[in-house]
Amino acid sequence: MAKVKNWQLNREMEYPYEEKKPKKQITYVFDTNKCIACQTCTVACKTTWTSGKGEETIFFNNVETKPYGGYPQKWDVNTLKELNNQEWGKDGVYKGKTIFESESGERVTGWRPEERNYAFPNIGEDEVLGNMEKGAFFNGIHDIWMFYLARICNHCSYPGCLAACPRKAIYKREEDGIVLIDQSRCRGYKECVKACPYKKTFFNMVTRVSEKCIGCYPLIEQGEQPRCVTSCIGKIRLQGFMEDAKPPRKDNPFDMIVRIKKIALPLYPQFGTQPNVYYVPPVHVPHDFLIQMFGPNVDEAIKLYRNMKDDKELLAAFMLFGNTPRIIHSYKAEENHAVGYNEIGDEIVRVPYVEPAHNRPHWDAQFQTFRHNTP
Ligand code: SF4
Ligand code: SF4
Ligand code: F3S
Repeated sequence: MAKVKNWQLNREMEYPYEEKKPKKQITYVFDTNKCIACQTCTVACKTTWTSGKGEETIFFNNVETKPYGGYPQKWDVNTLKELNNQEWGKDGVYKGKTIFESESGERVTGWRPEERNYAFPNIGEDEVLGNMEKGAFFNGIHDIWMFYLARICNHCSYPGCLAACPRKAIYKREEDGIVLIDQSRCRGYKECVKACPYKKTFFNMVTRVSEKCIGCYPLIEQGEQPRCVTSCIGKIRLQGFMEDAKPPRKDNPFDMIVRIKKIALPLYPQFGTQPNVYYVPPVHVPHDFLIQMFGPNVDEAIKLYRNMKDDKELLAAFMLFGNTPRIIHSYKAEENHAVGYNEIGDEIVRVPYVEPAHNRPHWDAQFQTFRHNTP
């Protein structure tokens, strides 16, 4: 085992391969507070990539309701059980073991789902935690909660799937950090399915090889964001790149959101794979649940989120979500607009902080009709 630095754990950890950073790393930010679980992303991905034989239960993208939902069923609870104690020190250092540091001596600790775990993609949908008291609906804020968690492959910096494959069929692309399965090398050992703590590699029963989210690389190579991002109705997603090896750049929206302000956090960082999808935590969910799910910085992240209107640089980065299919490489917070630029510095999107309102005259003389203004 090699020693690698995991910045999400604030410490070194063991990993089967030497550290090899890609030139740039595909990165996503998802704002959980805006997700409405319409599943448009799920369907966009499914119809694009997994509509073939044997792919019926393969969802590169899924959206589940927490705390009860999960696809495959109980994916997170079962992996968390394998880790035992997951304690964070006051200094933000993770004290527990990752999936690569198990005492059992396994290369990667994991849990292998059974067929029935894939049978109910929407189990727990819209189910809240606990029972509502009679009449409590009318009291305003209440203790009953749930939220929607959109999930894809995290294109991890230290992928569990890659570490576990005995055929070395999984690789991480040097140019953008996308993690892919070479299907001509895969022999269907399913070690990747067991080892991915997020359960984002899927075994195809017909072709007898595994498949996973490909980060929509044909779009990425054209400078476009993935399908699940551009189809998102709630505009909760943004995809771009970060460069771990370099100091954060204030004009890169991902550096600003993830590394400078730390308002978006990795999902279950304690697994140790250094996932590259970052979540703004939901603001209304109990503290302990969020700490377990997103690590020790959740309180600061929520505070920043609640006060975002006073932080123009951060607000501008969030205004870019869902407003262009192109990949944004840098951005600027102007007086009244957030502006995004492509790789060569051309402007590709301009979003006003406040949507302009147009009041139309009641009588439209050109079309000889009456018009109403809808607030
Ligand atoms: Fe591999 Fe799973 Fe990480 Fe994706 S989320 S790179 S499938 S370990
Ligand atoms: Fe599907 Fe592409 Fe999104 Fe991956 S990046 S979940 S392949 S739409
Ligand atoms: Fe390897 Fe997974 Fe195929 S472990 S051989 S990529 S099924």
